[in-house]
Amino acid sequence: MSKPPGGPEGLAIHERAISQPSSNEVLIRVAAAGLNRTDVIQRGGRANLPEGASDILGLEVSRTIAQLGSDVSGISVGDEVVALTDSGGYAEYVAVPAGQVAPVPPGLDLLDAAGIPEVAATVVLNVLLNGRYQEGETVLVHGGTGGIGAFTIQLVKALGGTVFATAGSAGKCARVRSWGADAAINYREEEFDQRGAGPWRC
Ligand SMILES: NC(=O)c1ccc[n+]([C@@H]2O[C@H](COP(=O)([O-])OP(=O)(O)OC[C@H]3O[C@@H](n4cnc5c(N)ncnc54)[C@H](OP(=O)(O)O)[C@@H]3O)[C@@H](O)[C@H]2O)c1
Repeated sequence: MSKPPGGPEGLAIHERAISQPSSNEVLIRVAAAGLNRTDVIQRGGRANLPEGASDILGLEVSRTIAQLGSDVSGISVGDEVVALTDSGGYAEYVAVPAGQVAPVPPGLDLLDAAGIPEVAATVVLNVLLNGRYQEGETVLVHGGTGGIGAFTIQLVKALGGTVFATAGSAGKCARVRSWGADAAINYREEEFDQRGAGPWRC
């Protein structure tokens, strides 16, 4: 039985039946799950999850395919994958639509890979696909020390761009600069849009 929403002391381990994948889903045996702000919000009872989502936390996982839905092809039992889930990733097994599964990125072990899908998919969608980022452009990143911000800073720098990041303290400004941001703005002391054309130094 689930505990009521609240702080981390409300988390508990329970036995549940293993989910059965529907025809377009795969069942993943979970090695590791990422922790995102949505997990914290869901634990507090405030998450806006899709209808039918599990009350078990967890939006991203890694490990092996344990079972295939009847209509799933191009992937095999035993394949090592990462996946975005609608929830339920903290369980030992989670059923996920096959379209939300990808191979483990080369060079990452299963533990690190579990922290990739939620943030990477969001940043790639928003910065590269919707935002149509072009190599060498400049990006302003709000919430620079968050999961999304940290990934965006490193992605844009890897693509040869310039990054200006906002953060809520001097310590956080130092952190975003250590990740490669060219300038950091403490928004509690300065309006970022008043910085003008420069100089952009923290
Ligand atoms: N698929 C999606 O659409 C998707 C996926 C992931 C995340 N998101 C969204 O992207 C945003 C960032 O997510 P995240 O995972 O990077 O979150 P996070 O790791 O919790 O980081 C949030 C950052 O925002 C800043 N912030 C400013 N005001 C805040 C407040 N009132 N409460 C908490 N943080 C505050 C904090 O830095 P300072 O203390 O320096 O202000 C913090 O570093 C969220 O709105 C999240 O819902 C969307």
